[in-house]
Amino acid sequence: MISLNDLGPRKKRYDKILLMYSGGLDTSCMLQWLQETYGAKVYTFTADLGQEFADPTRFKQIEEKAKKLGAIKHFTVDLKKIFVNNYIFPTLKANGLYQGVYPLSTAVGRPLIAIEAVKIAKRERIEVLAHGCTGKGNDQIRINVTAQAHAPEMEVLQPLIEWNMGRDEEIKYAMQHNIPISTQNKKYSTDENLFGRSAECDILERPEIEPPEDSKEWTISPENAPDKPEYLKISFKEGIPVGLNDDVLKGVELIKRVHDIGCNHGIGRIEHMEDRAIGLKSRETYEVPAALILIKAHQDLEKYVCTKHENSFKSIVDQRWTELVYEGLWVDPLREDLEAFINEVNKKVNGTVTVKLFKGNADVVARESAFGIYDLNLATYETKSSFNQKYSYGFIPLFGLQSRMGYITKNKLKKEKE
Ligand code: ARG
Repeated sequence: MISLNDLGPRKKRYDKILLMYSGGLDTSCMLQWLQETYGAKVYTFTADLGQEFADPTRFKQIEEKAKKLGAIKHFTVDLKKIFVNNYIFPTLKANGLYQGVYPLSTAVGRPLIAIEAVKIAKRERIEVLAHGCTGKGNDQIRINVTAQAHAPEMEVLQPLIEWNMGRDEEIKYAMQHNIPISTQNKKYSTDENLFGRSAECDILERPEIEPPEDSKEWTISPENAPDKPEYLKISFKEGIPVGLNDDVLKGVELIKRVHDIGCNHGIGRIEHMEDRAIGLKSRETYEVPAALILIKAHQDLEKYVCTKHENSFKSIVDQRWTELVYEGLWVDPLREDLEAFINEVNKKVNGTVTVKLFKGNADVVARESAFGIYDLNLATYETKSSFNQKYSYGFIPLFGLQSRMGYITKNKLKKEKE
């Protein structure tokens, strides 16, 4: 049964709560607060979506921190493969760039985290979930809608809405309760996975100021990138990247390699005035080297093998898919309906794309495909072309017929008014 009557927690005390735990400031304060406020036994869950880019020992540290703060049991689940195959690849096939720039890196991770949390909770007989999303962002929608579609009986708590502490007060609370905080924690709110890193808060909330260098963790600044370009040859099969230069690679490995090379050339620093689902406009900053390189390459190859009609219609479908996913409605049947079309188109997206990386830019410079709708013989400006230019005498008058008629009628009207 779907309940529509709840506004906030249903009870004053809970027996067990499963907290989606990142180890950051918000969820660490929360771990303490949930025990204090609801007298609950708190279980913690951390999803491995590849965020160990920065530090491979991180998950062990997160587990230790959770236990120290009172977690009864901690679960770390490696979801990298599922994340890549079922979330990142569909995003690539849909050329998913929200408002033309943001490759949905955080957005596609959330439904997966919610689904896994529901699984763990059911297994451990926990009926209440909690997460560290604020009441101002998109992530709360993505997690709550997905979790409650999969488990309508479960309650989802959002302590950040309940406790009404700002970041500054959280830091005070953390200090009072001996909750360790890193210097990076103090400044920015970040989210990381294989597909990207986002950073918010502090000076980043001032859109009139350029994001400072210390808000970046992955990419070197384009100014300091190598003076020599590097070329990447990315091979696609049915819209999915399967090879890099001469190596055939599985998804996770391929993304990691593209990521490393991209970071070294300062690729994928994005700065965006974003429209959130909740109505706010917000300044968002991202580092998305692999996402950007792969989407650009995919988009180029797809355009090469599709007709202009397919391309134009697909861009509408892509945008609809992207907005639906951005706004947290991953479970809406429309997503799969759109994917039926997207997948059909992608059956012929096979070939190789060459991307040139140079000082922050990733440009597609060449592509090859057995399915390309391009014929050198027809397109060439050399005299030996088999394209008969005489057809233009018939084509252009007909092609432009209505436009010419429309122009004449409109001008007649204008003259009458003068
Ligand atoms: N604005 C982005 C999105 O809605 C990024 C959100 C980042 N979340 C975070 N906890 N820092 O997908």
